[in-house]
Amino acid sequence: SYRVLAHLHSAPKRPSFGIAFDIDGVILRGRSPIGDSPKALRRLYDDSGSLKIPYLFLTNGGGIPESRRAAELSQLLGVHIDPIQVVQGHSPFKNLLARLENELVVATGKGEPAVVMSEYGFKKAISLDEYASYFNSIDPLSPYKTWTTKQPSNEQRNPSDSVPSFDVTSERVKAAFVVSDPVDWGRDIQVLCDILRSGGLPGEKSEHQPHMYFAADDLEYQAVFPSERLGMGAFRIALESIFNSIHHTPLKYTSFGKPNPFVFKNAESVLMQLKSLTSDADLNGDYKDMKSHHFETLYMIGDNPSVDIKGARKAGHPWFSILTRTGVFRGKENHTDYPAHQVVDTVEEAVEFMLQREG
Ligand code: G3P
Ligand code: MG
Repeated sequence: SYRVLAHLHSAPKRPSFGIAFDIDGVILRGRSPIGDSPKALRRLYDDSGSLKIPYLFLTNGGGIPESRRAAELSQLLGVHIDPIQVVQGHSPFKNLLARLENELVVATGKGEPAVVMSEYGFKKAISLDEYASYFNSIDPLSPYKTWTTKQPSNEQRNPSDSVPSFDVTSERVKAAFVVSDPVDWGRDIQVLCDILRSGGLPGEKSEHQPHMYFAADDLEYQAVFPSERLGMGAFRIALESIFNSIHHTPLKYTSFGKPNPFVFKNAESVLMQLKSLTSDADLNGDYKDMKSHHFETLYMIGDNPSVDIKGARKAGHPWFSILTRTGVFRGKENHTDYPAHQVVDTVEEAVEFMLQREG
């Protein structure tokens, strides 16, 4: 109608684009900002510190709840980051609640994998560290390890730990989750093989393999060390190849994280929520209804061609990929197998490019 068109013409231009930033190798290296990444992010807020451009972090990393990661990132980067702006590799695990909410599940990885799962609502989530401690001699190498792990007896328990109200030595594990990069690969491979080959109860025999979920499948990623470090995908290969060598049927598993297209679909819907919270959000009902249903462009800023760029390419319209030279990728020209729409040196350059392009 004329009324709607009039609104369209008179309404201020709202951002019809959103941004997904990879973290490791783009924003941070270890815990240090790369270049002046905080300055690049500050450009996405207005003078009063309110979000101007909808953006989120889309990382394959994790190990702590999104709320804690948001607080940590806010502190490291000096801008206010809301928990909904943090999408980690394990974030989609919460979608498995319907099936596993009241089942015994084991979670492993650096950080606090069981806390992550409990916060998602899994009622019987236990860390692999703690799980292993209930089975005497399950890890024959533990006497040689100089670090300490959680002990099963109540006396040795940290008073803040909750004592499980279920008997992990008689109940079957229904699913195992690799939430973040495993710390003790040898022990984890041993105990996961036990769980997976025994129908969820180490020492037993069963044909049924419990579900096995990985938060991501990055072979390598950029950390503090000059060359790339082995990631969760490397651990998956190790577990899978050992499991398949000792078991008659191959490992069945599901990997989440980028480059899966559904991760980008989910990011799009989170960005849509964020769009309605930006300082430019138009309160005019007609205009909002007409324009808020889709983005014209969504930018993925990443350092890993086979993860970030491959994912954005597979996700298709409206994704536009920008590859930085601050992490896994260091090439002069574009990547051959997974060329990005744009290659830049740093995230600051990426933000400058997007703001220019969006006028
Ligand atoms: O362990 C983290 C790594 O796998 C990737 O993190 O932020 O580059 O997706 P990111
Ligand atoms: Mg990265």
